[in-house]
Amino acid sequence: MRTLLSFLPALSLSALALTACSGGETLPKEIVVGEYGSLTGAEATFGMSTKNGIDLATEELNAKGGIGGVPVRLVVEDDQGKPEEAATAVSKILSRDRPVAVLGEVASTNSLAAAPLLQTNGVPMISPSSTNPKVTEQGDFIFRVCFIDPFQGTAGAKFAYTTKGLRNVGILKDVKSDYSTGLAQYFTETFTKLGGVIAGEEAYSKGDVDFKAQLTGLIAKNPDALFIPGYYTDVGLIARQARELGFKGPFLGGDGWDSAELTKIGADAIMGSFFTNHYAVDDPNPVVQGFITKYEAKYHEKPDGLAALGYDSAQVLYAAMAEVAKDPKMAEALADRSAIPATEEGRKAARAALRDAIAKTAGFAGVTGNITIDAARNAQKPAVVVEVTAEGNKFVESIAP
Ligand code: PHE
Repeated sequence: MRTLLSFLPALSLSALALTACSGGETLPKEIVVGEYGSLTGAEATFGMSTKNGIDLATEELNAKGGIGGVPVRLVVEDDQGKPEEAATAVSKILSRDRPVAVLGEVASTNSLAAAPLLQTNGVPMISPSSTNPKVTEQGDFIFRVCFIDPFQGTAGAKFAYTTKGLRNVGILKDVKSDYSTGLAQYFTETFTKLGGVIAGEEAYSKGDVDFKAQLTGLIAKNPDALFIPGYYTDVGLIARQARELGFKGPFLGGDGWDSAELTKIGADAIMGSFFTNHYAVDDPNPVVQGFITKYEAKYHEKPDGLAALGYDSAQVLYAAMAEVAKDPKMAEALADRSAIPATEEGRKAARAALRDAIAKTAGFAGVTGNITIDAARNAQKPAVVVEVTAEGNKFVESIAP
Protein backbone atom coordinates (compact mmCIF):
# COMPACT_ATOMS: atom_id res chain seq x y z
CA MET A 1 0.00 0.00 0.00
CA ARG A 2 2.68 2.45 1.00
CA THR A 3 4.82 1.71 -2.06
CA LEU A 4 1.85 2.05 -4.32
CA LEU A 5 0.77 5.31 -2.75
CA SER A 6 4.18 6.89 -3.08
CA PHE A 7 3.83 6.71 -6.86
CA LEU A 8 0.42 8.31 -6.94
CA PRO A 9 -0.29 12.04 -7.13
CA ALA A 10 -2.20 13.76 -4.33
CA LEU A 11 -5.60 13.48 -5.93
CA SER A 12 -5.47 9.76 -6.42
CA LEU A 13 -4.24 9.45 -2.86
CA SER A 14 -7.34 11.03 -1.38
CA ALA A 15 -9.56 9.22 -3.87
CA LEU A 16 -8.04 5.95 -2.71
CA ALA A 17 -8.44 6.88 0.92
CA LEU A 18 -12.09 7.69 0.36
CA THR A 19 -12.71 4.41 -1.42
CA ALA A 20 -11.19 2.60 1.49
CA CYS A 21 -13.45 4.58 3.80
CA SER A 22 -16.70 3.92 1.95
CA GLY A 23 -15.69 0.25 1.76
CA GLY A 24 -15.77 0.35 5.55
CA GLU A 25 -12.23 -1.01 5.95
CA THR A 26 -10.14 1.95 7.05
CA LEU A 27 -10.80 5.63 7.52
CA PRO A 28 -8.48 8.06 5.70
CA LYS A 29 -5.43 9.19 7.61
CA GLU A 30 -4.05 12.69 7.61
CA ILE A 31 -1.45 14.74 9.43
CA VAL A 32 -2.86 18.07 10.58
CA VAL A 33 -0.65 21.18 10.49
CA GLY A 34 -1.91 24.60 11.60
CA GLU A 35 -1.07 27.93 10.01
CA TYR A 36 -1.91 31.44 11.23
CA GLY A 37 -1.23 34.70 9.45
CA SER A 38 -2.37 38.05 8.10
CA LEU A 39 -4.51 37.00 5.15
CA THR A 40 -6.28 40.38 5.34
CA GLY A 41 -5.43 43.82 6.76
CA ALA A 42 -2.52 46.23 6.32
CA GLU A 43 0.00 43.37 6.08
CA ALA A 44 -2.12 41.08 3.92
CA THR A 45 0.61 40.32 1.40
CA PHE A 46 2.74 38.90 4.25
CA GLY A 47 0.14 36.26 5.10
CA MET A 48 -0.93 35.58 1.52
CA SER A 49 2.58 35.12 0.15
CA THR A 50 3.51 32.92 3.09
CA LYS A 51 0.41 30.82 2.54
CA ASN A 52 1.24 30.46 -1.15
CA GLY A 53 4.72 29.20 -0.30
CA ILE A 54 3.42 26.78 2.34
CA ASP A 55 0.69 25.51 -0.01
CA LEU A 56 3.23 24.86 -2.75
CA ALA A 57 5.49 22.86 -0.43
CA THR A 58 2.51 20.90 0.89
CA GLU A 59 1.20 20.12 -2.57
CA GLU A 60 4.62 18.84 -3.58
CA LEU A 61 4.86 16.71 -0.45
CA ASN A 62 1.41 15.18 -0.90
CA ALA A 63 2.09 14.52 -4.59
CA LYS A 64 5.04 12.40 -3.46
CA GLY A 65 2.87 10.44 -1.04
CA GLY A 66 2.93 12.76 1.98
CA ILE A 67 4.68 11.36 5.04
CA GLY A 68 4.91 7.61 4.48
CA GLY A 69 1.69 7.59 2.46
CA VAL A 70 -0.23 9.92 4.79
CA PRO A 71 -1.09 13.37 3.37
CA VAL A 72 -0.61 16.60 5.31
CA ARG A 73 -3.72 18.74 5.71
CA LEU A 74 -3.25 22.44 6.49
CA VAL A 75 -5.72 24.35 8.62
CA VAL A 76 -5.33 28.08 8.13
CA GLU A 77 -6.66 30.94 10.26
CA ASP A 78 -6.55 34.64 9.37
CA ASP A 79 -5.42 36.93 12.20
CA GLN A 80 -5.83 40.19 10.22
CA GLY A 81 -2.29 41.12 11.23
CA LYS A 82 -3.40 41.83 14.80
CA PRO A 83 -1.70 40.35 17.87
CA GLU A 84 -4.99 39.69 19.78
CA GLU A 85 -6.37 37.91 16.73
CA ALA A 86 -3.16 35.89 16.39
CA ALA A 87 -3.65 34.49 19.89
CA THR A 88 -7.32 33.77 19.16
CA ALA A 89 -6.50 32.08 15.85
CA VAL A 90 -3.96 29.81 17.49
CA SER A 91 -6.24 28.80 20.38
CA LYS A 92 -8.93 27.99 17.85
CA ILE A 93 -6.58 25.79 15.82
CA LEU A 94 -5.29 24.10 18.99
CA SER A 95 -8.68 23.16 20.40
CA ARG A 96 -10.49 22.45 17.14
CA ASP A 97 -7.83 20.75 15.01
CA ARG A 98 -5.26 19.38 17.46
CA PRO A 99 -2.37 19.96 15.05
CA VAL A 100 1.03 18.27 15.43
CA ALA A 101 2.74 21.57 14.57
CA VAL A 102 1.93 25.16 13.62
CA LEU A 103 3.50 27.46 11.00
CA GLY A 104 3.45 31.26 11.49
CA GLU A 105 3.47 34.20 12.00
CA VAL A 106 5.35 36.73 9.90
CA ALA A 107 5.21 39.84 12.08
CA SER A 108 7.19 39.38 15.28
CA THR A 109 4.55 41.04 17.47
CA ASN A 110 1.96 38.51 16.25
CA SER A 111 4.32 35.56 16.74
CA LEU A 112 5.01 36.83 20.25
CA ALA A 113 1.29 36.93 21.01
CA ALA A 114 0.71 33.29 20.03
CA ALA A 115 4.00 31.52 20.81
CA PRO A 116 3.34 31.18 24.58
CA LEU A 117 0.14 29.21 23.84
CA LEU A 118 2.01 26.79 21.63
CA GLN A 119 4.85 26.47 24.10
CA THR A 120 2.46 25.73 26.98
CA ASN A 121 0.66 23.10 24.93
CA GLY A 122 3.87 21.50 23.71
CA VAL A 123 3.13 22.13 20.04
CA PRO A 124 6.12 22.98 17.83
CA MET A 125 5.87 26.32 16.02
CA ILE A 126 8.08 27.41 13.16
CA SER A 127 7.94 31.07 12.22
CA PRO A 128 9.03 31.50 8.62
CA SER A 129 10.03 35.11 9.02
CA SER A 130 9.71 36.72 12.47
CA THR A 131 13.11 38.23 13.11
CA ASN A 132 12.83 39.77 16.59
CA PRO A 133 15.08 37.83 19.02
CA LYS A 134 12.33 37.48 21.67
CA VAL A 135 10.22 35.18 19.46
CA THR A 136 12.22 31.97 19.93
CA GLU A 137 13.01 32.95 23.53
CA GLN A 138 9.38 32.01 24.31
CA GLY A 139 10.47 28.40 24.77
CA ASP A 140 11.99 25.23 23.39
CA PHE A 141 9.04 24.48 21.07
CA ILE A 142 9.44 27.78 19.18
CA PHE A 143 11.66 27.89 16.07
CA ARG A 144 12.31 30.08 13.07
CA VAL A 145 13.98 29.49 9.69
CA CYS A 146 15.18 33.10 9.22
CA PHE A 147 17.99 35.22 10.65
CA ILE A 148 17.37 37.55 13.59
CA ASP A 149 17.38 41.35 13.82
CA PRO A 150 20.64 41.93 15.69
CA PHE A 151 22.21 40.54 12.51
CA GLN A 152 19.81 42.29 10.12
CA GLY A 153 20.38 45.64 11.85
CA THR A 154 24.14 45.16 11.69
CA ALA A 155 23.95 44.23 8.00
CA GLY A 156 21.87 47.35 7.26
CA ALA A 157 24.22 49.61 9.19
CA LYS A 158 27.31 48.19 7.45
CA PHE A 159 25.66 48.69 4.09
CA ALA A 160 24.74 52.28 4.99
CA TYR A 161 28.12 53.22 6.40
CA THR A 162 30.57 51.21 4.35
CA THR A 163 28.91 50.54 1.00
CA LYS A 164 26.96 53.79 0.68
CA GLY A 165 29.30 56.04 2.67
CA LEU A 166 26.41 57.51 4.70
CA ARG A 167 27.40 59.22 7.95
CA ASN A 168 24.28 60.90 9.24
CA VAL A 169 20.99 58.96 9.31
CA GLY A 170 17.55 59.79 10.73
CA ILE A 171 15.26 57.02 12.02
CA LEU A 172 11.47 56.75 11.96
CA LYS A 173 10.21 53.65 13.79
CA ASP A 174 6.86 52.03 14.63
CA VAL A 175 6.49 51.86 18.43
CA LYS A 176 3.66 49.31 18.15
CA SER A 177 6.00 46.78 16.54
CA ASP A 178 8.63 44.76 18.40
CA TYR A 179 10.29 44.23 15.05
CA SER A 180 10.55 47.94 14.28
CA THR A 181 11.81 49.10 17.67
CA GLY A 182 14.30 46.22 17.82
CA LEU A 183 15.66 46.82 14.34
CA ALA A 184 16.03 50.58 15.01
CA GLN A 185 18.07 49.74 18.10
CA TYR A 186 20.34 47.19 16.39
CA PHE A 187 20.91 49.48 13.40
CA THR A 188 21.84 52.33 15.73
CA GLU A 189 24.28 50.20 17.73
CA THR A 190 26.32 49.18 14.70
CA PHE A 191 26.03 52.46 12.79
CA THR A 192 27.32 54.50 15.70
CA LYS A 193 30.02 51.95 16.50
CA LEU A 194 31.26 52.33 12.92
CA GLY A 195 31.47 56.10 13.47
CA GLY A 196 28.12 57.21 12.04
CA VAL A 197 25.72 59.61 13.71
CA ILE A 198 21.98 59.19 14.26
CA ALA A 199 20.72 62.65 13.36
CA GLY A 200 17.40 62.09 15.10
CA GLU A 201 14.84 59.45 15.92
CA GLU A 202 11.06 59.78 15.70
CA ALA A 203 8.20 57.37 16.29
CA TYR A 204 4.78 56.50 14.86
CA SER A 205 2.16 53.83 15.56
CA LYS A 206 1.18 51.23 12.98
CA GLY A 207 -1.90 52.41 11.09
CA ASP A 208 -1.04 56.13 11.31
CA VAL A 209 -1.50 57.94 8.01
CA ASP A 210 0.03 61.34 8.70
CA PHE A 211 3.76 61.33 9.38
CA LYS A 212 4.45 64.97 8.53
CA ALA A 213 5.20 66.21 12.05
CA GLN A 214 7.82 63.53 12.66
CA LEU A 215 9.28 63.91 9.17
CA THR A 216 9.53 67.69 9.45
CA GLY A 217 11.50 67.28 12.66
CA LEU A 218 13.82 64.71 11.13
CA ILE A 219 14.41 66.53 7.86
CA ALA A 220 15.30 69.71 9.76
CA LYS A 221 18.32 67.82 11.11
CA ASN A 222 19.64 67.34 7.57
CA PRO A 223 20.20 63.58 7.47
CA ASP A 224 21.91 61.91 4.46
CA ALA A 225 19.30 59.13 4.57
CA LEU A 226 16.25 57.98 6.54
CA PHE A 227 16.14 54.50 8.07
CA ILE A 228 12.51 53.33 8.29
CA PRO A 229 12.24 49.88 9.88
CA GLY A 230 8.50 49.42 9.30
CA TYR A 231 6.05 47.46 7.16
CA TYR A 232 5.31 48.26 3.54
CA THR A 233 1.97 50.11 3.88
CA ASP A 234 3.33 52.65 6.36
CA VAL A 235 6.71 52.88 4.62
CA GLY A 236 5.10 53.67 1.25
CA LEU A 237 3.16 56.56 2.79
CA ILE A 238 6.15 57.81 4.76
CA ALA A 239 8.30 57.91 1.61
CA ARG A 240 5.71 59.96 -0.27
CA GLN A 241 5.26 62.44 2.55
CA ALA A 242 9.02 62.82 3.02
CA ARG A 243 9.39 63.69 -0.68
CA GLU A 244 6.51 66.16 -0.42
CA LEU A 245 8.44 67.80 2.40
CA GLY A 246 11.47 68.09 0.13
CA PHE A 247 13.66 65.24 1.39
CA LYS A 248 15.99 64.12 -1.41
CA GLY A 249 18.13 61.38 0.18
CA PRO A 250 17.64 57.63 0.03
CA PHE A 251 15.38 55.65 2.34
CA LEU A 252 16.72 52.52 3.98
CA GLY A 253 14.78 49.69 5.55
CA GLY A 254 14.53 46.05 6.49
CA ASP A 255 12.62 42.95 5.40
CA GLY A 256 9.29 44.54 6.41
CA TRP A 257 9.43 46.43 3.09
CA ASP A 258 9.14 43.20 1.14
CA SER A 259 5.85 43.44 -0.76
CA ALA A 260 4.80 44.22 -4.31
CA GLU A 261 2.51 46.78 -2.65
CA LEU A 262 5.48 48.90 -1.53
CA THR A 263 6.07 50.37 -4.98
CA LYS A 264 2.34 50.71 -5.61
CA ILE A 265 1.96 52.85 -2.48
CA GLY A 266 5.36 54.55 -2.50
CA ALA A 267 5.55 54.95 -6.31
CA ASP A 268 8.35 57.30 -7.45
CA ALA A 269 9.08 58.35 -3.88
CA ILE A 270 10.46 54.93 -2.93
CA MET A 271 12.54 54.26 -6.07
CA GLY A 272 16.28 54.04 -5.48
CA SER A 273 15.81 53.04 -1.85
CA PHE A 274 17.48 50.00 -0.30
CA PHE A 275 16.45 47.30 2.16
CA THR A 276 17.89 44.19 3.74
CA ASN A 277 16.06 40.98 2.95
CA HIS A 278 16.12 37.18 3.03
CA TYR A 279 16.10 36.53 -0.68
CA ALA A 280 16.61 38.26 -4.03
CA VAL A 281 14.43 37.29 -6.94
CA ASP A 282 17.35 37.86 -9.37
CA ASP A 283 19.69 35.50 -7.49
CA PRO A 284 21.04 33.14 -10.21
CA ASN A 285 21.34 30.22 -7.73
CA PRO A 286 19.53 27.26 -9.35
CA VAL A 287 17.67 26.47 -6.10
CA VAL A 288 16.20 29.99 -6.14
CA GLN A 289 15.43 30.01 -9.86
CA GLY A 290 13.89 26.52 -9.70
CA PHE A 291 11.56 27.71 -6.95
CA ILE A 292 10.61 30.85 -8.90
CA THR A 293 9.71 28.75 -11.98
CA LYS A 294 7.43 26.45 -9.95
CA TYR A 295 5.87 29.36 -8.07
CA GLU A 296 5.17 31.38 -11.21
CA ALA A 297 3.57 28.38 -12.90
CA LYS A 298 1.12 28.07 -10.01
CA TYR A 299 0.45 31.69 -9.01
CA HIS A 300 1.37 33.72 -12.15
CA GLU A 301 3.50 36.16 -10.20
CA LYS A 302 7.04 36.33 -8.87
CA PRO A 303 7.45 35.10 -5.29
CA ASP A 304 8.58 37.62 -2.68
CA GLY A 305 10.78 36.71 0.28
CA LEU A 306 7.75 35.74 2.39
CA ALA A 307 6.70 33.13 -0.15
CA ALA A 308 10.22 31.72 -0.19
CA LEU A 309 10.40 31.63 3.62
CA GLY A 310 6.94 30.08 3.88
CA TYR A 311 8.05 27.38 1.48
CA ASP A 312 11.25 26.81 3.46
CA SER A 313 9.45 26.65 6.82
CA ALA A 314 7.09 23.96 5.53
CA GLN A 315 9.95 22.02 3.94
CA VAL A 316 11.92 22.03 7.19
CA LEU A 317 8.83 20.85 9.08
CA TYR A 318 8.12 18.05 6.59
CA ALA A 319 11.74 16.88 6.64
CA ALA A 320 11.53 16.67 10.44
CA MET A 321 8.23 14.78 10.16
CA ALA A 322 9.78 12.27 7.78
CA GLU A 323 12.52 11.67 10.38
CA VAL A 324 10.00 11.16 13.17
CA ALA A 325 7.86 8.84 11.02
CA LYS A 326 10.77 6.42 10.58
CA ASP A 327 9.58 5.03 13.91
CA PRO A 328 6.28 3.27 13.02
CA LYS A 329 4.82 4.05 16.44
CA MET A 330 5.53 7.74 15.95
CA ALA A 331 4.15 7.64 12.41
CA GLU A 332 0.92 6.35 13.91
CA ALA A 333 0.92 9.08 16.56
CA LEU A 334 1.47 11.89 14.05
CA ALA A 335 -1.62 11.03 12.05
CA ASP A 336 -5.31 11.33 12.70
CA ARG A 337 -7.60 8.76 11.17
CA SER A 338 -10.42 10.92 9.90
CA ALA A 339 -12.67 11.77 12.83
CA ILE A 340 -10.75 9.56 15.22
CA PRO A 341 -7.69 11.46 16.36
CA ALA A 342 -4.57 9.82 17.65
CA THR A 343 -4.59 9.41 21.42
CA GLU A 344 -3.60 12.47 23.43
CA GLU A 345 -0.65 10.62 24.88
CA GLY A 346 0.58 9.51 21.47
CA ARG A 347 0.08 12.99 20.09
CA LYS A 348 2.12 14.50 22.91
CA ALA A 349 5.00 12.11 22.23
CA ALA A 350 4.84 12.81 18.50
CA ARG A 351 4.96 16.57 19.04
CA ALA A 352 7.95 16.21 21.36
CA ALA A 353 9.74 13.98 18.84
CA LEU A 354 8.95 16.51 16.14
CA ARG A 355 10.38 19.27 18.30
CA ASP A 356 13.63 17.28 18.68
CA ALA A 357 13.82 16.58 14.95
CA ILE A 358 13.31 20.26 14.02
CA ALA A 359 16.03 21.22 16.51
CA LYS A 360 18.43 18.87 14.67
CA THR A 361 17.88 20.53 11.27
CA ALA A 362 21.32 21.09 9.73
CA GLY A 363 22.47 22.20 6.30
CA PHE A 364 18.97 22.09 4.84
CA ALA A 365 19.21 23.60 1.32
CA GLY A 366 16.40 26.15 1.45
CA VAL A 367 15.44 28.70 -1.19
CA THR A 368 16.50 31.40 1.29
CA GLY A 369 19.86 29.77 1.99
CA ASN A 370 21.20 26.88 4.01
CA ILE A 371 19.21 26.35 7.17
CA THR A 372 20.86 25.09 10.34
CA ILE A 373 18.86 25.50 13.52
CA ASP A 374 21.18 26.68 16.30
CA ALA A 375 20.92 26.12 20.06
CA ALA A 376 18.65 29.20 20.39
CA ARG A 377 16.31 27.75 17.67
CA ASN A 378 17.25 30.40 15.13
CA ALA A 379 18.82 30.04 11.69
CA GLN A 380 22.05 31.77 10.79
CA LYS A 381 21.91 32.85 7.19
CA PRO A 382 23.27 35.64 5.03
CA ALA A 383 21.18 38.75 4.34
CA VAL A 384 20.89 40.41 0.96
CA VAL A 385 20.54 44.10 0.23
CA VAL A 386 18.19 44.95 -2.63
CA GLU A 387 17.45 48.21 -4.40
CA VAL A 388 13.86 49.20 -5.15
CA THR A 389 13.58 49.92 -8.89
CA ALA A 390 10.76 50.29 -11.40
CA GLU A 391 11.64 46.81 -12.74
CA GLY A 392 11.45 45.23 -9.29
CA ASN A 393 13.93 44.67 -6.48
CA LYS A 394 17.52 44.35 -7.68
CA PHE A 395 20.21 42.43 -5.80
CA VAL A 396 22.97 44.74 -4.56
CA GLU A 397 25.05 42.69 -2.14
CA SER A 398 25.04 39.74 0.20
CA ILE A 399 26.16 40.11 3.81
CA ALA A 400 27.44 37.03 5.63
CA PRO A 401 26.47 36.34 9.27
N1 PHE B 1 10.83 40.21 10.00
C1 PHE B 1 9.56 40.85 10.13
C2 PHE B 1 9.13 40.79 11.59
O1 PHE B 1 9.69 40.13 12.36
C3 PHE B 1 8.51 40.23 9.27
C4 PHE B 1 8.84 40.13 7.81
C5 PHE B 1 9.70 39.18 7.34
C6 PHE B 1 8.27 40.99 6.90
C7 PHE B 1 10.04 39.07 5.98
C8 PHE B 1 8.59 40.92 5.56
C9 PHE B 1 9.49 39.98 5.11
O2 PHE B 1 8.19 41.40 12.01
